[in-house]
Amino acid sequence: MRFLAATLCAALVATSARAADPAPVAGSGGMVVTAQHLASDVGADILRKGGNAVDAAVAVGYALAVVYPQAGNIGGGGFMTLRLADGRTTFLDFREKAPAAATANMFQDASGKVVPGLSTDSWKAVGIPGTVMGLEAARVRYGTLPRAVLMAPAIRLARDGFVLSQGDAGVLGLESPALARDPAAKRIFLPQGKPLTKGDRLVQADLAATLAAISKTGPDALYRGPFGAAIAAASQAGGGLITRDDFARYKVRELKPIECDYRGYHVISAPPPSSGGVSICESLNILQGYDLAAMGFHSAAEVHVLVEALRRVYVDRNNKLGDPDFVANPVAQLTDPAYAARLRAGIDPDRATPSAALSPAAPAHEGQNTTQYDVLDAKGNAVSVTYTLNDWFGAHRVAGRTGILVNNEMDDFTSKVGEANMFGLVQGANNAIAPGKAPLSSMSPTIVTKDGKVALIIGSPGGSRIITITLEAILNMIDHGMDVQQAINAPRIHHQWLPDVVYLEPFALSPDTRRILEAKGHTFKDDETWGVAEGIVTGAPTLKGRGADAAGRALSFGAALAGATMFGAHDAREGSGAAVPVN
Ligand code: GLY
Repeated sequence: MRFLAATLCAALVATSARAADPAPVAGSGGMVVTAQHLASDVGADILRKGGNAVDAAVAVGYALAVVYPQAGNIGGGGFMTLRLADGRTTFLDFREKAPAAATANMFQDASGKVVPGLSTDSWKAVGIPGTVMGLEAARVRYGTLPRAVLMAPAIRLARDGFVLSQGDAGVLGLESPALARDPAAKRIFLPQGKPLTKGDRLVQADLAATLAAISKTGPDALYRGPFGAAIAAASQAGGGLITRDDFARYKVRELKPIECDYRGYHVISAPPPSSGGVSICESLNILQGYDLAAMGFHSAAEVHVLVEALRRVYVDRNNKLGDPDFVANPVAQLTDPAYAARLRAGIDPDRATPSAALSPAAPAHEGQNTTQYDVLDAKGNAVSVTYTLNDWFGAHRVAGRTGILVNNEMDDFTSKVGEANMFGLVQGANNAIAPGKAPLSSMSPTIVTKDGKVALIIGSPGGSRIITITLEAILNMIDHGMDVQQAINAPRIHHQWLPDVVYLEPFALSPDTRRILEAKGHTFKDDETWGVAEGIVTGAPTLKGRGADAAGRALSFGAALAGATMFGAHDAREGSGAAVPVN
């Protein structure tokens, strides 16, 4: 059936991305998509038990901390974008914050040079985690089930262990040398002194006990109790800055999401301290002035205007945004369609603008090993979460016997104005380190509505590339009529102002398209694939209606999906995740 659909699509729409991707997973009573299939099952079970999408998102957040320890976490932070069935939208910010003793130049030596590795591989790299308080805030404000019910699956998975798939074992193997350097991490992740492999069982008894204590007494177990104290003690012993008072001061912020309109769709995404929503809306506002559908997916014409838009958006992203409690973010200006029209007017259809011509150098930086998950329930409550330890396994350190892997999110701050971070991002003073401040993020948990109903839930890890991954998935669906799986799987490009190169996934451009763009002045860098997007679309696999392409022409795969109202897609770039429906 899918083969037939792909054949028809290819015949009707001449785009290079119309490969034979698997069909999105169809459901009608709810959908959970995460980067680890066991966590997706946990979320779907909560929906089956009568929990709403927020309940499921909380349970998934804890489950991923166990079964996806490289990015799922209770020792990191993140963002939750919510669109409730009654139409309310909101955003929970549980991003990590700098400890009180942090200073703007803490990652520089006496001569002002950034000390390599200090902002990523040290206890100084660790920000005050927000995940536990964030998940509890979501549960108390918008969930319906007791904490013990939502945490029980994670506790069981930690206590009894789970069998590692190829994908789970692969990342553990890659990160094992770094984990082996920390005795507490080594005991858990290399229990026999060597990396666990596919088929081995990962048991996390300490983490199970920590989760059980949090389940019993709530976030105070971490923020005012023994587990925060244990992290503070490990930090102090390891040369870090975290104290118990830092935990006691930590607060979740509930913020208004960034919202904008694009070709009849309404986009709801992450506000500062994320740069994601502002950057996605600014990009969409610029691109609204071009007929991308007519240009075609990754045609020279489309890639040119996309790159020129991104070049301008990342200048703003890197220089003008920061924690809203510390800097005045010009959100209204950056998301104003009139501002986008002025930026568009500066785009030469025939020539690439050199990045150096746009602004004095101040590019930005950040870690890309985050994770995204989406939940939609039968009532229409939609939750999009991106949360992170920053790098895979964060700082590769576990605090004492807590079983908690700690983040290295401090690297998302500007270590030194004008100097690149681990994502090559060069950032400005608005993102300078200060006590109690959250570092600027690119995490972009996003929800798109149409005619007052949830149409799409989307997001991805990928550091500074999260913005372009999420943006391209939206364009692929709205402009190019791809279904949600095709939109996520399609090869990606990325540009972030500095360095002044267009990154390409394999097969992102044909050689002749590339030559046309090089003649306009673009420079390319071939890269491996990046990101792990997760998406849910409602009504039909494409945004254009059941079995219709971008131009509204009928396709035939609709019949196979009769009765389904929601369609989930996990990125084919990564093996361990799954979209799990509730029917
Ligand atoms: N650490 C990745 C981000 O926050 O964007």
